[in-house]
Amino acid sequence: MEVQNKVIIITGASMGIGTATARVFAKAGAKLVLAARSADKLEAVAHGLPPQAETLIVPTDMTDQTQVRALIDQAYEHFGRIDILINNAGQALVGWVATVNPDHYRQIIELNMLGPLHGIQAVVPKMKEQGGGVIINISSSVSKMAIPGISTYASTKYALNGLSLTARNELAADNIRVVLFHPGQTATDFGKNALIEENMVNWRPDAASPMPAPDSAEAVAYKILEAAITEPAEMEMPIQG
Ligand SMILES: NC(=O)c1ccc[n+]([C@@H]2O[C@H](COP(=O)([O-])OP(=O)(O)OC[C@H]3O[C@@H](n4cnc5c(N)ncnc54)[C@H](OP(=O)(O)O)[C@@H]3O)[C@@H](O)[C@H]2O)c1
Repeated sequence: MEVQNKVIIITGASMGIGTATARVFAKAGAKLVLAARSADKLEAVAHGLPPQAETLIVPTDMTDQTQVRALIDQAYEHFGRIDILINNAGQALVGWVATVNPDHYRQIIELNMLGPLHGIQAVVPKMKEQGGGVIINISSSVSKMAIPGISTYASTKYALNGLSLTARNELAADNIRVVLFHPGQTATDFGKNALIEENMVNWRPDAASPMPAPDSAEAVAYKILEAAITEPAEMEMPIQG
């Protein structure tokens, strides 16, 4: 879908890949709905966008289904339609399978798996009503790997892959195109924002398996724009040489 004058909801827009995506889609002429928990950071992101970019801020905790429904309702009431939902909010958990705290695992399941589900369930009726739309779920390249120390995080993204690919089949008849996008390692505060088990504080993922150089959030955002325009079932960042 061409994005000029289209209404795009971006979750996790207060920093990192979400903020970069807001900038890239604003430059492409989209109307934006920015969601995350931190209202002050969303305000700062909105102020940094080109002045002509129409922007609505809706502070939202994506783990709370009522708040997610309110996000979708407010976006629809404000702009009269929702063309693209980008389910981007997410958090990592660093811990061994043998010792990880199940409460921490539950916490990232609520955000990384149920967050996108809440978004999809709230937006589908609106998209059906308007004749279609695009849903982009931000997964991860680690959802196709078995990297020690981040298995629980990766498993939430494995689950998102299954949900997304199946939803694409289920919703095709309603002209709703579901896209799964996989960033690789990206230069954001994602690592700092991760939940880290006490026994992993000094652990570094690249000690176990060397990682390629990280992509910039802006490079990832341009690839997400490409995914929005071309609407593949799945797209990932190319591995840097
Ligand atoms: N960076 C990487 O290397 C990398 C690699 C592969 C995939 N990814 C995926 O890309 C996405 C974005 O990652 P990032 O690197 O931009 O991470 P980030 O810089 O840590 O940003 C995460 C975003 O999610 C929001 N968020 C966290 N908890 C939330 C909640 N309960 N409700 C609503 N929003 C919430 C945060 O805002 P608030 O704190 O204001 O709510 C923030 O805007 C994630 O899904 C991540 O799994 C990242």
